[in-house]
Amino acid sequence: MFLRKIELKNFRNYEDLKLEFNKNINIFIGNNAQGKTNILESIYFLAVTKSHRCNKDNYLIKNDCIFSKIVGEVENNDRKNTYKIVINNEGKRVSINNNVFKRISDYLSNINVVMFCPDDLEIIKGTPSDRRKFLNIEIGQISNEYIIYLTKFNKVLKTRNEYLKNEHNIDFNYLDILTDELIDLNIKLYKYRKEFINDLNNYIVDIYKKISLKEDIYVKYESFIDNEEDIVEDLREKYLRVRDSELNQKTTLIGVHRDNFSIYIDGKEINNYGSQGQHRVAILCLKLAEIEIYKQKYNIKPIILLDDIFSELDKKKKVNIIKYIDKDLQIFITSTDLHSISKRITKNADIFYIEEGKVKLGE
Ligand SMILES: Nc1ncnc2c1ncn2[C@@H]1O[C@H](COP(=O)(O)OP(=O)(O)O)[C@@H](O)[C@H]1O
Ligand SMILES: [Mg+2]
Repeated sequence: MFLRKIELKNFRNYEDLKLEFNKNINIFIGNNAQGKTNILESIYFLAVTKSHRCNKDNYLIKNDCIFSKIVGEVENNDRKNTYKIVINNEGKRVSINNNVFKRISDYLSNINVVMFCPDDLEIIKGTPSDRRKFLNIEIGQISNEYIIYLTKFNKVLKTRNEYLKNEHNIDFNYLDILTDELIDLNIKLYKYRKEFINDLNNYIVDIYKKISLKEDIYVKYESFIDNEEDIVEDLREKYLRVRDSELNQKTTLIGVHRDNFSIYIDGKEINNYGSQGQHRVAILCLKLAEIEIYKQKYNIKPIILLDDIFSELDKKKKVNIIKYIDKDLQIFITSTDLHSISKRITKNADIFYIEEGKVKLGE
């Protein structure tokens, strides 16, 4: 899929920006704090309705403005669709071809992006919650059903937690009903996450081998579900076992809302013990594996966003990224220095120069 055009209104430091893009490589060059990442952020936002770097949509609205608008025209298998998101104080409104969707979940899973940026290290160095966010966003991009189950899960979890917290005379029949609902959704989400992590493992070994000449990398899914036989019975028993603790602590103690994953290199878990270098390579492999899942399993050509990663990587890794991201994908690259990007890449690219929120297409 290709983003052919984008229009930004009052988005970050852009008051009014309209750009048309090349189907292959687009490069944004500019000094720091000029607005390069803001453009990639807007593309990411259009796809997943979340920023990759902040949790509050309000930050995206240009200072002193009351709304922000992103419009993108995406071409996919010769069909063109116009995606639009308007953000204001009350929230955001999403539409496709001017059909407004009440539920964000109806809008999602249409545009697929894979972003590489310095903050990605948080997926490894951050908390389990950062890793769950990664799983939710990436699986959600592939499966709309996943988003619907996740929304339901969060609702039931909230109801259950509120009941545990506020009710003094617990009705165990009612608690069992909530628990059963939660079990059903736990299992659904677990299956999606398990499949996604299995898929990552199917590709990551080969990718790691090309980058480091070694093969020993492994993504380990850590869930409270560890047995797939008689799964409902097993989970009922698990919830029963923690029931007293849950009543004491007044919250739901087990479930996929506590899931985690770890990455192992040479048999060692690197989230806590790996070097910075290992973290970088692992993230790179994880994202490249994701691209392979899109392409090979789902026949989707995602849009690739490379934010400021060229200055940090050595030459060999740059070549490897580009090798993996073949010619038929659309790529957006930001950098402060055009010379840090090889001629092979810049040769056919559209190059945009950015200064203080003004963008000029290079000759
Ligand atoms: N809501 C906002 N309103 C106006 N300007 C903003 C807003 N958010 C960020 N900025 C400005 O955007 C610039 C940073 O843009 P960014 O794309 O991160 O820069 P870079 O080119 O280094 O990637 C800064 O000058 C910052 O002040
Ligand atoms: Mg930046």
